[in-house]
Amino acid sequence: MLRAPAETTVVVPAARARGRVQVPGDKSISHRYALLGALADGETAIEGYSPGADCAATLACLRALGVIIRSTGPAAFRIQGRGLRGLTASAHPLDCANSGTSMRLLAGVLAAHPFQSTLTGDASLSRRPMRRVIEPLTRMGARIVSADGRPPLTIDGGDLEPVTHAPEVPSAQVKSAVLLAGLQTRGRTTVNEPAPTRDHTERALATFGVNVDRDGRAVSVDGGQRLRAQAVRVPGDISSAAFWAALAGGRPGSEVTIENVGLNPSRAGLLDVLRRAGVAVEAALDAETAGEPVGTVRLAYGAPRSFTIAPDEVPGVIDEIPALAALAALMPHGSTMSVRGAGELRVKESDRISSLARGFRALGAHVEEYDDGFTIEARPLTGGPVDSDGDHRLAMAFAIAATGAGSPTKISGAAAVDVSYPGFFHELDRLTGAGGDR
Ligand code: S3P
Repeated sequence: MLRAPAETTVVVPAARARGRVQVPGDKSISHRYALLGALADGETAIEGYSPGADCAATLACLRALGVIIRSTGPAAFRIQGRGLRGLTASAHPLDCANSGTSMRLLAGVLAAHPFQSTLTGDASLSRRPMRRVIEPLTRMGARIVSADGRPPLTIDGGDLEPVTHAPEVPSAQVKSAVLLAGLQTRGRTTVNEPAPTRDHTERALATFGVNVDRDGRAVSVDGGQRLRAQAVRVPGDISSAAFWAALAGGRPGSEVTIENVGLNPSRAGLLDVLRRAGVAVEAALDAETAGEPVGTVRLAYGAPRSFTIAPDEVPGVIDEIPALAALAALMPHGSTMSVRGAGELRVKESDRISSLARGFRALGAHVEEYDDGFTIEARPLTGGPVDSDGDHRLAMAFAIAATGAGSPTKISGAAAVDVSYPGFFHELDRLTGAGGDR
């Protein structure tokens, strides 16, 4: 039984990482299967569900909305679907905890239900922008009250009109919220994306029997299509795998193989960036499950070199930027990573530009911060202390970089890893042979 990581965790330097690892179920896909299972006709069985707190928040909200969900094993659930627009009002506010995906996708679902719901979250989520979903859902006919565009959201849902929506920022959460609302109307809803984003909602809808039309960057659904319950398996989360990739690519002599990991092309931009950064990457597709490609990725230390992430690549690697910064910090001194066009990082679980810059500087790297990105330059890493700022991906990124520091690093707010990767520190110890008691 794994113990939850302590609020403050010490990471000791480690020469190299070796081994095989299975990462937890994909967070994005888990949320979607739970939501679609709840709206489907019949009983949906999900295996490989993300064990993180974010996806637990989605299940807790669905239970409060009248959905019966049974745990049937480790990471396995059965969800009794209530049919389209079949949820019932919750007696209390719905707590989305740290999870933006829970809040934005549930907003789309609840906008079409004829009762009032309030969506709340923790301090971090309460700072995140919600106008991007409030605006299109209001145009469809929902009434939504917010705290100046931020949570809590109080939604008075009902009969919605279909909409054609062109979001200002590329966001899979916005696209998904609008498509889920559109599915509960009587007409055709279209989202025209400014840049391609992860397409798990489209694939999951198709798996649940819904016709989804895609034409370039436009995605459309006709409302009223019933969802058919499914047995689905969630692939491993490539965004979690990114931390092991950074470790393998950053510590000489390392080799890590990640099994059963999702390789959806809209998420696999990470592999291109890793190759450019000189990491030895071998990826093999093993299967497709519920329309999601799954495979094995072998990552090894190669020939590290400076790399840049172009603005048009950013939506495809938005969640992997902290891990890639850790890779850069571990590279030979003077190597750099630059990213621009990534202003969205400022409205993630933390302000991921300033918190990341502060943390990597504390570890000894040189970081230049811009409005929409940063450049990190590898310098001899001295070790912390660092603060995750309550952000799971920063806690993991700092831990990976800390393996290459000259002395142990104390990470405050380390327990945030439980949002997406409970057991992360245990795996870090196992792969680096560090052992130790946390
Ligand atoms: C997600 C979409 C992305 C991503 C987030 C998960 C999703 O957010 O950063 O971690 O599951 O749809 P945005 O939609 O805000 O870009």
